[in-house]
Amino acid sequence: MKKELLSKIENRTIVAGVVGLGYVGLPLAVEKAKAGFQTIGFDVQSNKVDLVNAGQNYIGDVVDSDIASLVKNKRFRATTDFSFIKDVDFIAICVPTPLDKHQEPDISYVKNCAVSISKYLKKGSIVVLESTTYPGTTEELIKPILEKGSGLKCEKDFYLGFSPERVDPGNLIYKTKNTPKVVGGIGKDAAEVISAMYRAVLDGEVHTVSSPAVAEMEKILENTYRNINIGLINELGRLCHKMGISIWEVIDAAKTKPYGFQAFYPGPGLGGHCIPLDPYYLTWKAREYGFHTTLIENSMIINDGQPEYCVERVMHILNRQKKAINGAKILLLGVSYKNDIDDYRESPAIRVLKELKKVGAIVEYYDPWIPEFRNMYGENGKSIPELTFQVIAEFDLVIVTAAHHNIDYDMVQKNAKVVFDTKNVMSNVKNKENVEVL
Ligand SMILES: NC(=O)c1ccc[n+]([C@@H]2O[C@H](COP(=O)([O-])OP(=O)(O)OC[C@H]3O[C@@H](n4cnc5c(N)ncnc54)[C@H](O)[C@@H]3O)[C@@H](O)[C@H]2O)c1
Repeated sequence: MKKELLSKIENRTIVAGVVGLGYVGLPLAVEKAKAGFQTIGFDVQSNKVDLVNAGQNYIGDVVDSDIASLVKNKRFRATTDFSFIKDVDFIAICVPTPLDKHQEPDISYVKNCAVSISKYLKKGSIVVLESTTYPGTTEELIKPILEKGSGLKCEKDFYLGFSPERVDPGNLIYKTKNTPKVVGGIGKDAAEVISAMYRAVLDGEVHTVSSPAVAEMEKILENTYRNINIGLINELGRLCHKMGISIWEVIDAAKTKPYGFQAFYPGPGLGGHCIPLDPYYLTWKAREYGFHTTLIENSMIINDGQPEYCVERVMHILNRQKKAINGAKILLLGVSYKNDIDDYRESPAIRVLKELKKVGAIVEYYDPWIPEFRNMYGENGKSIPELTFQVIAEFDLVIVTAAHHNIDYDMVQKNAKVVFDTKNVMSNVKNKENVEVL
């Protein structure tokens, strides 16, 4: 099986499948098709499937003309029909791994998708989970589902592995194509074949590890590392504020050390589908072993408290203007979870907005990337259409919650009564007398 698959990869006769055509899956499917593989995308959302089949792009990191030409040349198509899995040799699973309302892993998307695949899995296939999850998911959860549903045996009839996705939306240098990849397979042959497939598609280095669990843990380490360092800096930021020291100046100074220090910055909290969620997958799994990941939990406590901390700071700023937060008009700049992207999943800005409203503030937002939002918690909003000096002057306070580059911050400073900048975007603005930084 291994020899045959390696030669099919070499001569591009493998048919590639990507399940879940979101931020991760669509760029991956496009790269596979661009590398010369016939590619089929699977999704449960028919609107995404229809867009792909019409050659239309809906993900920022994908080049519009790539999809259009791949679809036109019949190299790439999408479907909601899982029976086409039988036509596919290599299946990458890129479905969501969110948390439920008790902050516990919601693995139902991965499970449902594995059940759907298992019904049509054929002998000689390769399945790779790319969704971020707890260590053990591939072997303990996916393998038995695939074996039971297909009647096939892992390692003998099909290969299975885990390869974490590292896409960083909006990153102008590192894209799916040139980001190094880690691969862990069940058995050496699986790891070899999966690695060969990624080498055929991507330019980045492919690093093979001894098991899917190592690859799963490695991904959680990457995200937990960020979570904890951001937690540290958010905590230090709060202390610095009390001590009258600028945390931003401290970080700039620390950054001059050429080794042993990596800069992380404070902000209104963590956002996106990865950093705020993934460590919870680990803390949940750790409890199975009677282990408490206390450092991670403490970092979550700090980061989860940032939106409320920002509201507290807003309250103090308004207080100095002899203004109560209850009834104050506040303009929030940016609701995406990070700068220059259209993704607002788990956005801390939306939590700040919610907390401000809770204490009676009248809040509107402006975000050139997000004209409107509606999230899984039933919260929704619409951006004011244009950021003019008249609009800014109407508000008692402007709070910057995303560091978008396409906003004129000089104009904001000049026309705002007072600004609370949680992202230090006003650092280059000349006059800072009405600006307070987090
Ligand atoms: N977005 C990122 O920056 C990023 C980075 C690295 C890793 N990840 C991880 O990658 C995974 C996917 O994240 P994403 O951001 O692409 O999510 P997403 O929500 O953008 O896309 C997931 C897609 O899967 C589809 N889907 C859900 N259930 C399905 C099923 N049973 N069968 C077929 N399709 C199904 C959804 O309709 C959606 O289109 C997550 O585990 C995430 O943690 C995301």
